[in-house]
Amino acid sequence: MAATIKQDVKDLGLAGAGKKRILWADTDMPVLARVRERFAKEKPLAGLRMSACLHVTAETANLARTLQAGGADLVLIASNPLSTQDDVAASLVKDFGISVYAIREEDNDTYYKHIVAALAHEPNVTMDDGADLVSALIFMALGRLNELHAQVKSWAEKMSPAERLKIINQIVGSMEETTTGVNRLKAMERDGVLQFPVISVNDALTKHLFDNRYGTGQSTVDGIIRATNNLLAGRRFVVCGYGWCGKGVASRARGMGSQVIVTEVDPIRALEAAMDGFQVCPMNEAAAIGDIFVTVTGNAHIIRTEHFQKMKDGAMICNSGHFDVELELPGLKQLSQTVTPEVRTNVDEYLLKTGRRIYVLGQGRLVNLAAAEGHPPSVMDMSFATQALATEFCIKNRGKLPNKVVNVPVEVENFVATHKLASMGISIDSLTESQKKYMSGWEHGT
Ligand SMILES: NC(=O)c1ccc[n+]([C@@H]2O[C@H](COP(=O)([O-])OP(=O)(O)OC[C@H]3O[C@@H](n4cnc5c(N)ncnc54)[C@H](O)[C@@H]3O)[C@@H](O)[C@H]2O)c1
Repeated sequence: MAATIKQDVKDLGLAGAGKKRILWADTDMPVLARVRERFAKEKPLAGLRMSACLHVTAETANLARTLQAGGADLVLIASNPLSTQDDVAASLVKDFGISVYAIREEDNDTYYKHIVAALAHEPNVTMDDGADLVSALIFMALGRLNELHAQVKSWAEKMSPAERLKIINQIVGSMEETTTGVNRLKAMERDGVLQFPVISVNDALTKHLFDNRYGTGQSTVDGIIRATNNLLAGRRFVVCGYGWCGKGVASRARGMGSQVIVTEVDPIRALEAAMDGFQVCPMNEAAAIGDIFVTVTGNAHIIRTEHFQKMKDGAMICNSGHFDVELELPGLKQLSQTVTPEVRTNVDEYLLKTGRRIYVLGQGRLVNLAAAEGHPPSVMDMSFATQALATEFCIKNRGKLPNKVVNVPVEVENFVATHKLASMGISIDSLTESQKKYMSGWEHGT
């Protein structure tokens, strides 16, 4: 347990409801529970200061409990202003003695004040969902303080260059949870500015094959339904980006009876979408025919002014990619005569000057977290067991990993997959000796 519990949460009085939610999620996270039991005995993270910037949900709470059981002195902050479950944050502080700084709908200044709290913890290991902590650290390391958010800048400016360097030098490594974070980190590696190893948890098969695909798929559709109460059957449902998340969203929307249309920029992925049976066309064409639009590209400016102008009256747009830059909302505002916030919880109405209405769900932030509860526990079980074991790997290999984006070791992936299967009551075949010989030889032909 942290020596002193520090916190900035909405209301500690919500802890009771949060505890129920955390324990409910825990019943469907058996692999993580197994890791937690071992961590409690072996304390592989003893003496370690950790700062984690993640979506503060019930599933994350169970990861936090696991890191704490392993001996880490943890500070948890939100990785998105709209994804915090305030009751969970309260329970983590009150019931589990973990320091948390996260308030749902916190403004940008508070978000970065919380980033400062995580950095001021002087972590040995950081954990990110979107690379916000690492980015701040790298700007500090490079002395590019002007590029930090005002809150972080004024904190960093109070330190001497030597004190700032000490904070960087104490870091053994970092974990990254999502595609957008990995993209940013690979750009840092390319520019030669990464100062410590970062383990790309997102790139583990036990993460993106399941979390990005089935987790984002189900929870994005869940978010749209909770926000709108719309019938998806018979609707034209446009998915922008056919990556891991896009595949999940498209297949779940089809399962609900929607006619799914995919937009892409990558010819291989567009071809994959076409052969998976989806209509594929440019955004310009999709804009005119879609009823519901979801962006999941990890890129910026996907649905723009020229697209809004073509949309039908009542079109609904939302985003499930990491940052809120996929929908060009300032452009939509310019086209509108009025914007009515919250015509329904998590739905804002933009009344265009043409008289048509466009509905924006979850303010263009991750709709599955803004309007639903994020990924279900069963899939976060795998992502977070991988996170916890990757942290242990990072610590065991202190000083041996390069200052690059590093893959999760295959042993971790095999452990997670094997135990997930076992928890589902599924057993599989093993290779026979003759099969092993056949597969490893070249002598046998026709
Ligand atoms: N909502 C969630 O809970 C959640 C979970 C996991 C990942 N994510 C985020 O979702 C985003 C996508 O992740 P992913 O793992 O699917 O990434 P990915 O790289 O597998 O797929 C992204 C796809 O978008 C396509 N794309 C890029 N620009 C485009 C454009 N202008 N128009 C159409 N398509 C375009 C790319 O070609 C690629 O196929 C990332 O930001 C990631 O961090 C969100």
